[in-house]
Amino acid sequence: MTAEIISTGAFVPEKTVTNDDLSGIMDTNDEWIRTRTGIGERHIADEEFPNDEKAFVLALKACERALNNASEKAKTEKTASFKDRSDIDMIIVGTSTPDFSFPATACRLQEALGIENAAAFDISLACTGFIAALSTADAYIRAGVYKNILVVGVDVLSRLIDWSDRGTAVLFGDGAGAAVVSASDSESGVIKTVLHSAGSGAKALYSKSMYFNEDEKAGMSMDGKKVYDFAVRKTPEVIREAVESINCDDVKYYVLHQANIRIIEAVSKRLKEPMEKFPHNIGRYGNTSAASIPIMLDELEREGRLKKGDLICLAGFGAGLAYGAVLLKF
Ligand code: COA
Repeated sequence: MTAEIISTGAFVPEKTVTNDDLSGIMDTNDEWIRTRTGIGERHIADEEFPNDEKAFVLALKACERALNNASEKAKTEKTASFKDRSDIDMIIVGTSTPDFSFPATACRLQEALGIENAAAFDISLACTGFIAALSTADAYIRAGVYKNILVVGVDVLSRLIDWSDRGTAVLFGDGAGAAVVSASDSESGVIKTVLHSAGSGAKALYSKSMYFNEDEKAGMSMDGKKVYDFAVRKTPEVIREAVESINCDDVKYYVLHQANIRIIEAVSKRLKEPMEKFPHNIGRYGNTSAASIPIMLDELEREGRLKKGDLICLAGFGAGLAYGAVLLKF
């Protein structure tokens, strides 16, 4: 029994903030941001979204898309376990910027989606949140406990951004991505998951809980160089661990967390794998934290770049310092 991703969905808010917009409010410029990070613009959940619904609404829209895509697929293809959303028996949300301390974002989604009797909870692992959620879903399905799991990555990093700190403000954007993961006895599905935390570096990238300071942004603290060095060292390591049972030539895409194009290029170089195997959309979204991997996956799916049987390796890294990878057959 494997855990197969049968559909994806993603959503980003309409409002974009370009590098030129940022250079109007802080001492930065398009050229610096593009050359150092590859980012051109990012989507921001502005006043259009009530403050206590930002993560919820972005996630809900991504989930609706993923569930509708799964239902459509179930009509034409033989999907072993999923027929419609009433089959969802677990919802796992990776997020570090929930609207509420409780209930879990997953429980709010469950209610809004009309899914009864499912287990639902959130996982907080920052930019590695989707990898952690997908690994958890894989474990439950492999153990035969649940059959259809909605796995979500959503973050609203803009609510933490201190717009006077050019060192961090230019990097992040808001968004959500979701995947329906189903028990399958076909060839497709997760082959291996790997999840690690370094056990050091917790202060290299952090944001205090929002309730520490109700009136101001919680703000973010980042040692950019330390995080960069960690990412380019550990991401190739964890990918090698995930793909050890197969030939790397057979991997079609490495879908990395979209934090910085230079990190992606460095990982490509260290793995001696061509950049064509590393799809990226950071130029349009910035770093959307737990959402970046499912947004990228959804984009590949919608562009018809994923074919049945393709081997894909997902890899995430970030605050913790945590990192992980999932090798799967599409
Ligand atoms: N615009 C213009 N100049 C900026 C700037 C900005 N937005 N941010 C920093 N600078 C300046 C710095 O103040 C510094 O100026 P100085 O030399 O006069 O002191 C100069 O640019 C170089 O800064 P530095 O921090 O050395 O740049 P860098 O090449 O290391 O790039 C990051 C900075 C943040 C892009 C890079 O360290 C990085 O990507 N780190 C990983 C961050 C990350 O991905 N975090 C999330 C992980 S999930």
